[in-house]
Amino acid sequence: MDSKTIRKQFIEYFEKTLGHTVVPSAPVIPQNDPTLLFTNAGMNQFKSYFLGETQAPFKRAVDSQKCIRVSGKHNDLEAVGRDHYHHTFFEMLGSWSFGDYYKKEAIVWAWTLFTEVWGLDPKRLYATVYTEDDEAYEIWKNIPNLDPTHLLKSGEKDNFWSMSETGPCGPCSEIHYYNGEDVENQDPLKVNTDDPEYMELWNLVFIQYNRDENGELHSLGQKHIDTGAGFERIVAAINGKTSNYDTDLFKPIIEQIETISDVAYDQGENGVPHRVIADHIRMLSVAIADGAIPGNEGRAYVLRRILRRAARFGRELNLKEPFLYRLVPAVAHVLGDVYPEIKNQREHIQRIIRAEEESFGNTLDKGLDLFDQIAKQAKKSAEKILNSEDVFKLYDTFGFPVDLTRLLAEEKDLQVNEGKVNSLMEAQRERARAAGKFSMKSSEDLKWIVLEKDKVSKFAGYDTYKTESLLLKYAVDDSHTYFVFENTPFYAESGGQVGDKGHLILHKHSIKTGARTNVVDTRKIGEDIVHIVEGSVLEGNTKPITATLEVQQSIRRDTARNHTATHLLHAELRSVLGDHVHQAGSYVGPDRLRFDFTHFEKISLEQLIDIQQRINTRIMQNISVDTETKPYTEAIRDGAQSLFGEKYGDEVRVVTMKDTSQELCGGTHVERSGDIGLFIIVSESSIASGVRRIEAISGIAALDVLKIQQTVLSGLRKAMKHPEDEILEKVINMNAYVRNLEKENSELKSKLLTLDVDLYFQNERKLDDKPLFVNRVDVENMDQLKALGDKVREKMKSGIAVFGAVIKNTPQVLCVVTDDLVKEGIKAGNIVRTLGKALGGGGGGKPHMATAGGKDVRKLDEVLENIEKYL
Ligand code: ALA
Repeated sequence: MDSKTIRKQFIEYFEKTLGHTVVPSAPVIPQNDPTLLFTNAGMNQFKSYFLGETQAPFKRAVDSQKCIRVSGKHNDLEAVGRDHYHHTFFEMLGSWSFGDYYKKEAIVWAWTLFTEVWGLDPKRLYATVYTEDDEAYEIWKNIPNLDPTHLLKSGEKDNFWSMSETGPCGPCSEIHYYNGEDVENQDPLKVNTDDPEYMELWNLVFIQYNRDENGELHSLGQKHIDTGAGFERIVAAINGKTSNYDTDLFKPIIEQIETISDVAYDQGENGVPHRVIADHIRMLSVAIADGAIPGNEGRAYVLRRILRRAARFGRELNLKEPFLYRLVPAVAHVLGDVYPEIKNQREHIQRIIRAEEESFGNTLDKGLDLFDQIAKQAKKSAEKILNSEDVFKLYDTFGFPVDLTRLLAEEKDLQVNEGKVNSLMEAQRERARAAGKFSMKSSEDLKWIVLEKDKVSKFAGYDTYKTESLLLKYAVDDSHTYFVFENTPFYAESGGQVGDKGHLILHKHSIKTGARTNVVDTRKIGEDIVHIVEGSVLEGNTKPITATLEVQQSIRRDTARNHTATHLLHAELRSVLGDHVHQAGSYVGPDRLRFDFTHFEKISLEQLIDIQQRINTRIMQNISVDTETKPYTEAIRDGAQSLFGEKYGDEVRVVTMKDTSQELCGGTHVERSGDIGLFIIVSESSIASGVRRIEAISGIAALDVLKIQQTVLSGLRKAMKHPEDEILEKVINMNAYVRNLEKENSELKSKLLTLDVDLYFQNERKLDDKPLFVNRVDVENMDQLKALGDKVREKMKSGIAVFGAVIKNTPQVLCVVTDDLVKEGIKAGNIVRTLGKALGGGGGGKPHMATAGGKDVRKLDEVLENIEKYL
């Protein structure tokens, strides 16, 4: 049975037969969970339903979720490709109950689907339960065709599932499958021992706890079901395959690798490169389609590592040129129908991968050479450990992720000293940090004087510029005072928007009662909104104190214009360029806005003008900017744009301009788009491969720019005596005309220079009795000078001529010597070398003609006058 049918049958079984709502896969880049690098389980998107923070809109759900597991709790990258069933990217088929049905239904339905719908042999199936879960044990015991010896108990490691260190969790029951040949002689002890013949297929989790930061379990109000089945393994099992790579989910990719490399796939050890590459290209394609890009940090660095690992395995198949990008169409073929973003963004994915391959390709071979050298040394040593400085060099200079080096090392039975290498990397990060500029202090760095306990600071500035508020705490260091108030109109820098400036007045008990103090910046430290004031303004106070807080309105309004304009820009970029555009960073200040986003090519002037025009149309439509707070999942369902890597709470603020833009955003905005006034794009550039940057201005700043442009244009119109729409053409013509004139002028000058060559023989001097003619001339370039030299040499009967000139602000000399004197051993090259040196430079040439350049223009005349002395 093909994979498409199997996926469809799973969904339909739960949807049609059992009343589950089909939900789409969430992106692999988690939208609201800072504890996760990648979506690693089907339940991630439902976390807040489990915790009871949000009411689930349905009681039952089913999906196939794109998951990435590269490291940590749930995967071991090194195993990927060496075995046949671990993947960096895989699909998890899942079914859920949110406070609805529980263990019995989950177990019976899973069993029925496996044995009746898909016809898996019950004799090959195992069920595991958590040692303390008697309820699940009883249910399994009553399943008639489950072999009682195949019902196994296990402890927390195998049968208690947690999403991560904190969050929803509970005991679980797993279904395993024996795929070996000897059905009659199975060994139940081999279940859960990483034996490739005993494969975990489906995990049924009975979610009933929330684990807090201290590791303690708290019972949830309701009990839930969270199941996850490994799709690739199931497809293999149903089709009687022992390798996931032998299914239609991988075959087309492997075949393409065979075609490109001309190396046939082998199911054994020799097939490792094919498998690694096939696995990794799926992960890369899926992640990039969801907006990730390779880079230097965090998630981006994971992509880079995976890509480099794949590129390195490509070398084992003799693939030296970029090749991974050529596999993307095969991935789109396999997954594109179910996850259309892969198909739609195929070109974008290919470009990103190719650019990354090209930049790594250059250093990969050099790095491999260095690796061979250091491996040789390590082989000779007793410890068989690679020199840590060299491992660091491979990382730092040749871009070898340490796990790539470790992998290469393991192949040669060598080791990496992880601790030492980590400390070298940490030291480098420290240097980079120290070199960086002002970074906000962390809470621990400041000694807080707490005046009000148990109160939290709250932002009140969406509808007001001014509040009276209670001081909760403050801290003083050698240059600044930091204040945290209960209610503040000051926006703390976040989401790209700069922190507010303004002033505050402290009342009563303070040393400087009633004085206005400037707030120079507002930042967040944890949940605190911290107002930063220069100097020390409140030393020693421990009594309750209130203050008047007021933000500077003009700054705030300009910033709001740019912030709303940024949302319009984001929306119109997606309309004009496509859905692959994702925000990669932004700056929203009062002066301008900067928007970084994923897109591969330069944006043409026509497109930029189109985007700008669309935005100004939206401004003229004066659309109301509405904000609303709602559950995150609801907002995403309603189509709100969220930012990758941004952490969102369960309740989010959605900023909407009807039919135009909808984004999760905590920033401050104008009331209607018309308040923006005017929007102008000032630049477009590339900041990294696959990431572009647009800078723009709005409101007053845009008007100011217009004013300057108008002044310049009107000046031009007058100076050129032409109407505006003809000026450009006129200037282009004029440039060509000027170039022609310059050329003519230069030719004329050359002719003039040699018109009367006798001029240059007027002052005869002597150098060792030989005639010497020295002249300072006015030429534009070396060609003219040489042409002059030629003419003079032709005319000179016997002698030496030296010319000095200043060309492009540097002193130059040329010397020519007639043939008879050359024969006597006088060489122009020697002469100019000495003169060049005297001028602070150097030169040389042929015996009959040579030139030299110097540095010091002021010395030229003196050197020409005293040539005899210098020589
Ligand atoms: N959430 C469970 C898992 O990932 C089903 O295994």
